[in-house]
Amino acid sequence: MTTNTKIKLEYQSGFGNDFQSQALPGALPVGQNSPQKPKYGLYAEQLNGTSFLAQRQENLRSWLYRIKPSVYTGKGCKVDYPNCKSRPFSTTFTMAVPYRFDPIIKLAESTIDFLTSLKTVCGNGDLASYRGSCVHLYGFNKALENEFFYNCDGDFLFVPYLGEVLIQTEFGHLTVGPGQIANVPRGIRYNVVNLSPFCAGYILENYGRPFQLPYLGPIGSNGLANPRDFLYPVAKFEDKSGEYKIITKFSGHFTVCEINYHPLNVVAFHGNYLPYKYDLSLFNVINTVSFDHCDPSIFTVLTSPSEISTYSNVDFVIFPPRWLVSEGSFRPPYYHKNYMSEYMGLITGLYEAKEEGFVTGGATIHNQFVPHGPDTNAFIKASSENLKPKYMASTLAFMFESSLPYYLTQLAADSASLQKDYYKCWADLPKNFKP
Ligand SMILES: [Fe+2]
Repeated sequence: MTTNTKIKLEYQSGFGNDFQSQALPGALPVGQNSPQKPKYGLYAEQLNGTSFLAQRQENLRSWLYRIKPSVYTGKGCKVDYPNCKSRPFSTTFTMAVPYRFDPIIKLAESTIDFLTSLKTVCGNGDLASYRGSCVHLYGFNKALENEFFYNCDGDFLFVPYLGEVLIQTEFGHLTVGPGQIANVPRGIRYNVVNLSPFCAGYILENYGRPFQLPYLGPIGSNGLANPRDFLYPVAKFEDKSGEYKIITKFSGHFTVCEINYHPLNVVAFHGNYLPYKYDLSLFNVINTVSFDHCDPSIFTVLTSPSEISTYSNVDFVIFPPRWLVSEGSFRPPYYHKNYMSEYMGLITGLYEAKEEGFVTGGATIHNQFVPHGPDTNAFIKASSENLKPKYMASTLAFMFESSLPYYLTQLAADSASLQKDYYKCWADLPKNFKP
């Protein structure tokens, strides 16, 4: 199947399926993984996304049939991307107060590539314990030329808000733009190309268990993000010699290696460990048709569970266009103090609980048990509005919701984009008590 983007690409579909693809006929071995003499003189290579003993339903691996194996990486030397941080941060700053940011990413005045543009704003957990996550921002206007990245520390979930991005991976190509997401699991080599003059977005780096679709409980067997709408690439290879750099993020540090052949040389593959994309407009919104405001879990697209069943490592949640029809109810989110910590961003439009001060590319952070909810204007408006059915058009906000608190990086804490007076949005909440 194809999707409407600036360039037409072929995809395979179905979340978590066992896929196979070959760019040359017969390149994929039949009936075995590692033949003595693979067709076309290819090398066989396995890429594991879980331990070998992971339970079958969570076991992730792919077999790649490639012109040259990944094994040669040259001598390697350290390289620094000073604004891209990993947990635990060497310096951090967080108080039990709500935070709100204007966009930290500005339109670049000079050329900047994807990796150089990465700015880490917050994170939690510890990459070495496979628990936690980091939130990075990107804003770039130049393709990674002959430079390819892979991350040993976590998966990168792309959430763009400006411009369309082409992600060229070992498994083939994906495009992702505003209103879509793409996930590149750890260990997969790729580069990032801007299809628009300037591309900007949020990235969740997930240190924990790979994302799953949430259990649907009494919703049944359909609804929310349906498996068949997740798209995976088809095999596409380059057979080129030249000077190429492999930039690796490992244990929070970057290494650059030089190789003399194109790293995206996979002619065929099969398996269930590969990148994917999803169009958020296909999310089947489930909500109340009677009264009250449902908990945000009904908007969960993907979840990374933790080893403690009651505490997700991190959930990806969206607030998409939808009908509001609840009767006799305060329709925006209720005031709350949650166990889960919330990093919230805006892809487009207005968010119902905060129509001012929370803009596309900006963010709020409400950590564990930090009380928050509609600002004064939103409360007054929602308390007196006519409760006829109302369509929330052209809005798309999201949350990275984690059972671990988000710690700010020094960059975020010192940023001029940090709104010093966010707390004032609740200062004028009226006292309506009339005993
Ligand atoms: Fe909240």
